[in-house]
Amino acid sequence: MSADAMKRAAAARALEYVKPDMKLGLGTGSTAAHFVDLLGEKVKAGLKVVGVPTSEATRAQAESLGIPLTTLEETTALDMTVDGADEIGPDLTLIKGGGGALLREKIVAGASKQMVVIADETKWVKTLGKFALPIEVVPFGLGATTRAVEEAVGGKPCTLRKGKDGLAFVTDGGHFIIDAAMGEIIDPPALAARLNMIPGVVETGLFVGMAGVVVLAGADGVRVVE
Ligand code: 5RP
Repeated sequence: MSADAMKRAAAARALEYVKPDMKLGLGTGSTAAHFVDLLGEKVKAGLKVVGVPTSEATRAQAESLGIPLTTLEETTALDMTVDGADEIGPDLTLIKGGGGALLREKIVAGASKQMVVIADETKWVKTLGKFALPIEVVPFGLGATTRAVEEAVGGKPCTLRKGKDGLAFVTDGGHFIIDAAMGEIIDPPALAARLNMIPGVVETGLFVGMAGVVVLAGADGVRVVE
């Protein structure tokens, strides 16, 4: 089975958690896009739900599929968010932000009663940190913020994310992203707390205590970890 087929299989299983009239957070990335696609089919068939997209890309996809959307201003509490991840540790701590949407993803997941993560098995790791940790920062003071982040991560290489045009990648919120190649992250909550103390850091891609269910698809089928 291809990686893409695994992502779709995980997305299809997550659809079983969706009930009529739910208010849903809609994640970002290639796996979440499968979920939005499948949700769109259900909506066309008559399912009534409303969604809050975690990125402009997901908003465009959901709109094109006719999924009704709302905002966290209009709808301040959601039933469930379904989103992908870059790495998932055994305690369901996540690294997210590979697609650059970590801030909205965290706000939307934080406003949801439940976070369901969908992924292929390759995202499941014993220890987080092989995937460079995305850290969203404000453009002002970038040099000083980067230096402070480097100090906080013990001098590990921190790189400003670039877009296809070679310029700094800009998030939907108008921020930059520093990717910190950490190696093993032994204590994610402590690291998140340390990084969040740095002026200029908006948010990190460490999602601690947010995911309640992980749907993992592999060559042998789909398994659910809670
Ligand atoms: C975007 C994310 C994505 O969920 C994460 O990067 C996984 O993406 P994909 O499903 O394409 O592997 O956090 O900010």
